[in-house]
Amino acid sequence: MAHPTLLVILRCLTLLCILSLAVTADDNSTASGQIRLDCGASTPTGPDADNRTWDGDNSSKFAPSLKGVAVTASYQDPGLLSTVPYMTARIFTSNYTYSFPVSPGRMFIRLYFYPSTYGSYATANAYFGVTASNKASNLVLLDDFNASQNAFALTLASIVLEYSVNVTSGNLDLTFAPSTHLNGSYAFVNGIEIVPTPDLFTTPTPTLANGGNPNPFPIDPATGFQTMYRLNVGGQAISPLDDVDFYRSWDGDTRYIYAAASGVTFGKNSNVTITYTPSVPNYTAPVDVYATARSMGPNAQVNLNYNLTWTLPVDAGFYYLLRFHFCEIQYPITKINQRMFFIYINNQTAQRQMDVIQRSGGIGRTAYTDYVIIMTGSGQMDLWVALHPDLSTKPEYYDAILNGLEVFKLQNNGNNSLAGLNRPLPASPDVGPNGASGGRKPKSAVPAAIGGAVGGFAVLFIACIGVCIICRRKKEAKDSGKSDDGRWTPLPHDSKSRSNISGKTTTTGSRTSTLPSNLCRHFSFGEIQAATNNFDQAFLLGKGGFGNVYLGEIDSGTKVAIKRGNPMSEQGVHEFQTEIEMLSKLRHRHLVSLIGYCEDMNEMILVYDYMAHGTLREHLYNNNKPPLSWKQRLEICIGAAQGLHYLHTGAKQTIIHRDVKTTNILLDEKWIAKVSDFGLSKTGPNVDNTHVSTVVKGSFGYLDPEYFRRQQLTEKSDVYSFGVVLFEILCARPALSPSLPKEQVSLADWALHCQKKGMLDQIIDPHLQGKIAPQCFTKFAETAEKCVADHSIDRPSMGDVLWNLNFALQLQESAEDNSSLTEGTSSNTSPLIVPRLHSDEAPTDTTTTTSTTMSITGRSITSTQSEGLTPSSVFSQLMNPGGR
Ligand SMILES: *[C@@H]1O[C@H](CO)[C@@H](O)[C@H](O)[C@H]1NC(C)=O
Ligand SMILES: *[C@@H]1O[C@H](CO)[C@@H](O)[C@H](O)[C@H]1NC(C)=O
Repeated sequence: MAHPTLLVILRCLTLLCILSLAVTADDNSTASGQIRLDCGASTPTGPDADNRTWDGDNSSKFAPSLKGVAVTASYQDPGLLSTVPYMTARIFTSNYTYSFPVSPGRMFIRLYFYPSTYGSYATANAYFGVTASNKASNLVLLDDFNASQNAFALTLASIVLEYSVNVTSGNLDLTFAPSTHLNGSYAFVNGIEIVPTPDLFTTPTPTLANGGNPNPFPIDPATGFQTMYRLNVGGQAISPLDDVDFYRSWDGDTRYIYAAASGVTFGKNSNVTITYTPSVPNYTAPVDVYATARSMGPNAQVNLNYNLTWTLPVDAGFYYLLRFHFCEIQYPITKINQRMFFIYINNQTAQRQMDVIQRSGGIGRTAYTDYVIIMTGSGQMDLWVALHPDLSTKPEYYDAILNGLEVFKLQNNGNNSLAGLNRPLPASPDVGPNGASGGRKPKSAVPAAIGGAVGGFAVLFIACIGVCIICRRKKEAKDSGKSDDGRWTPLPHDSKSRSNISGKTTTTGSRTSTLPSNLCRHFSFGEIQAATNNFDQAFLLGKGGFGNVYLGEIDSGTKVAIKRGNPMSEQGVHEFQTEIEMLSKLRHRHLVSLIGYCEDMNEMILVYDYMAHGTLREHLYNNNKPPLSWKQRLEICIGAAQGLHYLHTGAKQTIIHRDVKTTNILLDEKWIAKVSDFGLSKTGPNVDNTHVSTVVKGSFGYLDPEYFRRQQLTEKSDVYSFGVVLFEILCARPALSPSLPKEQVSLADWALHCQKKGMLDQIIDPHLQGKIAPQCFTKFAETAEKCVADHSIDRPSMGDVLWNLNFALQLQESAEDNSSLTEGTSSNTSPLIVPRLHSDEAPTDTTTTTSTTMSITGRSITSTQSEGLTPSSVFSQLMNPGGR
C-alpha cells in the first residue's frame, strides 16, 4: 500500500470511479435486484473490469454482525482483471453467514476469489466450504475448497465461480466455513455477486441422452446449478459487459475442439438478421453467440469420415445439463432438410435428424435444445460432444452446425451438493494424517489437473480478459524489463505492470486490465540446482540465444527442461518476462507448457515440460537420426500449424509468434509437435497501430520480407516463416546455407524458384523420393508456396494453411490406403476425393467441387461453392479421417 505508484493508481481509480458513477447513474448495484459486494472493503468501490461499481461489506446490511478480518492482498498479481473486487478480501477463521434479502426466484451467485497472501494468512491454509441456503433448502457449493490450487491449475490469477439457485422463501444465506479437516484453515472471499434471472433451466424439458431411447428429463425447479462451460462456438469470447442481461462470460470454443478435426468457423451473412423466436427469449444468449458458428466444412466425403468433437473436463458423479444453441446464418440454408445431423453426447446418440431450420423456422432464427446426461465414474472425466451428418432423409448437405454450447452441473440431490472432488487435503504440518511427524508440507503450487470444484468455467475468464492486455503489458515490460544496473526486474515487483489497472475502456473487445496470471510455479534456485545436479554438463540438452537448456528432474521423477538465461543478456530480460506472461496464459496441445520459473539471485530460469524428441530440426538434417516418414512430417506440420493458428485466433486478440522456425517446434515422446519460445511474441497488430515495431526481430532465413521492408508486423509474418519451415521439412536443408551457390543460399527463394519452374520435386529430401503421393505433394508445395508469397496479403491465414495441410494428409492417407490408385494418376483428376456423394438435382449444387478447386486461400472455395457452407474467410481446419 505504501508503494507510491500504487497510491497514485488508487487515486486515479477513485477518480474514475466517481466519474463512472456520474456517467452510469443507473449502474446501481441494487436497482435491478443485483448485488455486488466487495468483501473487505468499507466504501463503494469500482469500477471493475466491466465498469461496474461494488459496495463494501463493512457495515453492509447484507453482512449482519460482521465477523472476520478485512484484509488487502500484499501483492497485486499483474494477471488480475482489475483491483475491484480482488485486492480486498474478508477472512473468516470461524463460520460466517452473509444474508441477502432477495425476491423469490432464480438467481446467479458469483463468487470471486483471488488466492494470495493476505497479511499473515497463507494461501495454503485457505481450505473452506461455502453453502447457499434459504428457508426451504440448503445447498453445498464448495467443500474443502482451495482457491489457489484451482487457480494454479487453470493458470489464472483469480477465479470466478458461477452458480444458479432458486430461492423460494426467505433470505439467501451464504455461509463460509473453514475446513474442519485441516488445522489452521480459514475461509476467504473477495467478492459476491447476485444477479436475479428468470427461470433459465426448466423449459423446454430436456432429453435424457442415455443412448437407447432418449426420455424426457424434467428438472425440478428447485435444482441448483453450477456453470461449467459457456461457449460461443465458432466465435470469440464475449465479456460480461457484452452480455448485459446477466453479465455472463462466454468463451471461444477452440481450445475444447478434439484433435485436428475442427471444421470451419464463420459469421452470419450480412443480410441475415438474428431474430429471437418465442421459445428463445432474447436473454437466452447474446446475438453474438448466434451470429457465429462452426460447421464441419465444405467437403461431404470428409465430413462423413469424422465427427466434429469437443471434449470438456467435468466431475464424475453428477448430472449435467447441456444446452446447444443453433441458428442458420448463411445462405443458401433456408429450408428444411438441407442440413441434418446427429448430436452425440458421450458417444451416445442424443439427437437424430437435427434440423436447425425445422426447429427455428428459418434462416437467422434462433433455437436451442437441452439434454441431460449423467457422468458415471470417478474423479474428473471428459464430457464428449460430437456432431455428424445424418443422411437418413437425404439432406442436401452432409454437414452439421453449432453456434453455442452451455454445460451446467446439476446439484446432487443425495447430498444436496454441487461440490466436486478436490485434490486431497495436504497433511497438517503439525499433525500428519497417520500421526506421523513431518507430514507433507502443504504446497500451494502443485501442478495438477484442473481442480474438480472449478471445472472449466473459470477458464472462460482467460479468454474474456483478452490477450490484448498482454500486448500492453508487454510494451511496458519492454521499458521496465531493464533496471538501471542493466539487470532484469523481478516480475512480481514490476511496478509498471501495476499501472495497467487504471487503463480501462468500455469498448467492446478491448479490455485493458491485466492478465491472468503468473501463478505458475515458483522454484527456488536450490530446487533448480538439485534438479539439474547443479547444472551438470551431462544434463545439458542444448544451447540457445537465451542460454543453456538442461534436462532436470523435479518432484522425484518428473522430467523437465530447464532453460537458464544468461543474466548478462539484455535482450533476455524482456524475453524472459514475455515468455512467462505468454505461456502462463496459453494452454494448448500444440504449445509447449511452462511449468514454472526461478528468479532468485537474478537468475532467469524457465522450467518447461520435457520434450523427449527435442527440436524438429534435429530430425531433419545434420544428424544421425532415422529420417521422419512423410506422414510423420505432415502430422508435425499440422500440429505446429494448429499451435500457431491458436495463437492467431484462439485468444481474444491475435498473438504473433515472430520467431517461427524448426528449432522452435519441439516434439514430445509421442511425436506431438509443440510450438515453443515465445520470447519475441507480440500481440496485435490491427487493433493498435503502435505495434509497428522499430526493431526487426526474428531469425534470418525465416524473416518475412514485407516485415523487413515495412517494419509492420502481422500474423502473416508467422505464415511466411511457417512456409519456410514447410520447405525445410520437405527439402531437409537449412533455411540459410551460406556455402551453397548464391541463388540457393536462401531456401525460401530457391524453393520458390524451383516450384515456379515445376522442379521442386528435384530438391526434396532424398529420403522422401517416391514416398509422397503426387496429389499430396502438389497440395503441400502449393501451400508452402503461398505462405512465402512476397506480399502478406497474398498469403493464406494460418487456418487456411491448416486446412490445406490436413487435406494434404488426407490425400496421402487415401493414396497409401489404396496405393494402386496412386500409380499414374494425374493430380488434376483425383480419384481419391469424391466430393459429391449423392445426386439429387438440387439447383444450387454446391458440392461439385473437385480437389483442384480446394485452393489455398479458402476464397476460391467460397467462389466455387455457395457461400452457404463456407465462410468467406475460411479458417477451417479440416480433419484427418484417420484422426487421432
Ligand atoms: C468416446 O469415444 C472415444 C474414442 O472413440 C473415447 O476415447 C472416449 O473415452 C469415449 N468417451 C466416453 C465418455 O465414453
Ligand atoms: C461419431 O461418433 C459416434 C458416437 O460416438 C460413433 O458411433 C461414430 O463411429 C463416430 N463416427 C466417426 C466417423 O468417427
